[in-house]
Order: sequence, then C-alpha cells, then structure tokens
Amino acid sequence: MGKLDGKVAVITGAASGMGRATAVRFANEGAAVVVADLNSQAGEETVAEITAGGASAVFQHTDVGSDKDLKALFDRALKEYGRLDITFNNAGVGGATGRLSDIAPEDWDKTFVILTRAVFLGIKYSIEPMRKAGGGSIISTASVGGLRPAAGLHAYCAAKAAVISLTQSAAIELGRDRIRVNCICPGGIVTPLVYRGMPGGEEEARRNMARQQPIPRAGKPEDIAAMAAFLASDEAEWITGTSMVVDGGLNTGNARTSFAAGFSGPSFRRRDRTNQAPRAR
Ligand SMILES: NC(=O)c1ccc[n+]([C@@H]2O[C@H](COP(=O)([O-])OP(=O)(O)OC[C@H]3O[C@@H](n4cnc5c(N)ncnc54)[C@H](O)[C@@H]3O)[C@@H](O)[C@H]2O)c1
Repeated sequence: MGKLDGKVAVITGAASGMGRATAVRFANEGAAVVVADLNSQAGEETVAEITAGGASAVFQHTDVGSDKDLKALFDRALKEYGRLDITFNNAGVGGATGRLSDIAPEDWDKTFVILTRAVFLGIKYSIEPMRKAGGGSIISTASVGGLRPAAGLHAYCAAKAAVISLTQSAAIELGRDRIRVNCICPGGIVTPLVYRGMPGGEEEARRNMARQQPIPRAGKPEDIAAMAAFLASDEAEWITGTSMVVDGGLNTGNARTSFAAGFSGPSFRRRDRTNQAPRAR
C-alpha cells in the first residue's frame, strides 16, 4: 500500500531535479503521473524510469509560460486517467539575475511568467477537476529565497514570495472544496539549476552546498520529493496555506555563504559581467 494509491498527479518540471525525483516518488507511492516539461527527451526518461518500475506515467510537452500548453496539460491528465488529485507546480528557472540597474524589464517579466503566473494557472486549472474528485492537493515549489531574499536574485526572490502569498490566498478560497494548497520552500538542493553554471559541476555544488547550512550535507531532490509526497497524501488532510521549509536549517540565518553565489541563472541571456550575481560577502 502506497500513500498515494489510486491518485492522479500532474507535475511540471518533471524532467529533472526535484520534479523528476517527485514523479518517481509519487509513482512508488501508487500514483499515476503526468510528467510535464519543456525538455521532451529528459521527460520521456522520467516516464521510462517510472514505467520500468511497473507504475503508470505519460509525458506531455509543456511550456509553463504558455496558457494554452498548461490548459492542454490538465486536459491530458483527464483524458488519460479520468481524474486529478494532485498538482505539483514545480518548473522553474533562475530568471533575471544581477544588479537592479542591469535587469531588463522584459527579463523581469519572463521570470514572473515562469515562476509565478504558471503557478496561478496551475492552481486555476486544477480547481474544476479537483472539485469533481471531491478534493485535492496543490503543491508549488517556492524557495527560502521567497522568505529571505538573497543578493543578486531580486526577481527570483520576489517571484517566489508571490508564490507563498498566492498559496495562502488560494488556500482560503479553496478550503471549502477540500482542495488544499501548500508550497515547499527548498534551501540549496543539488540540481542542474544550481550546478549548470559551475566549472566543477555537480561535485563542486555538492561540496559547496554541504557547508551552507547547519546540517552539513547538501540538499537532495529526494528531500523535496519526501515533503511533496506527504503534502499530497491524506495524512496532510488538515494542512493548507503553509510554506514548508526544507533546507537543512539554512533559513535560521546561520548560512556561511550566500545561496546566490553559485546560482546558475540567468536563463534568458548569455551570462556576462554586467549580469552576474554579485559575489556574496
Ligand atoms: N535547486 C535549488 O537549490 C532550488 C532551491 C529553491 C527552489 N528551487 C525551485 O525548484 C524548482 C525545481 O528546480 P530544480 O532545482 O529541480 O531545477 P532543474 O533545472 O533540475 O529542473 C527544472 C525543470 O523545469 C523545467 N522547465 C524550465 N522552464 C520550463 C518551462 N517554461 N516550461 C516547462 N518546464 C520548464 C526544466 O526543463 C527542468 O526540467 C524550481 O521552481 C526552482 O526555482 C530550486
């Protein structure tokens, strides 16, 4: 018996990192999973990993910046599995990084389209199918950056703070429908998002990030998957409107280095000197 037996989940950004780990965890807990991502090849690999383990999953190519794609994603879940119980709004990018004076307005907007508007739409399109299912669990990936801003990550942190606020207001509106709305605030998790821009790649990230917080090991995608599986399950039936911090203690303020120092953004333009996050002091 899994925690999520018989449930159907949609997960964005499920081709990599926390989204992939959560897709695999949900499937191991008994859910059928609709894997959504821009990256079709890696998304199909997530599906292959799940189906090799005997569970059910399908891939839907999705740009979360597109309203049409997101609508099509939820339609696919209903067409494929006939119901929707869990939505994990997780896809993300570093977005517009650097000093305020260097951030282009259009890069600011793109950051909010992917990190915040997509979460609004993911919640919006979950409501009707979840009402029909008698309730559901919507989870979004925010960040400790949404609680405590980091140097050089103005747009990212503001967009994640908006996700935390939207989580609370949506929880107020949807409680009567038994639709729970929560978010997770990860600390530093070793995924391509943080090591793509590092010369030493994944290993360098793991070493550096092990020193960032009171628990002296780097965060793993599976740490987030475990929290998502709990929030998605009926064990969390009285939990809504919360921001679950999963960060090895980073948010205590005891961090020895800034999270921004190794962040791989910007995703919208080639990294150059004027668009780099300032080094942490
Ligand atoms: N890694 C960290 O330390 C950290 C910390 C806090 C929050 N987060 C957040 O966690 C979430 C997952 O990130 P991750 O660290 O697993 O990174 P990742 O790069 O491993 O995975 C992100 C996935 O999102 C997909 N994606 C990006 N833009 C998309 C779009 N427009 N449409 C559809 N898919 C898109 C990518 O293709 C990728 O598969 C993000 O929202 C990120 O902001 C990450």
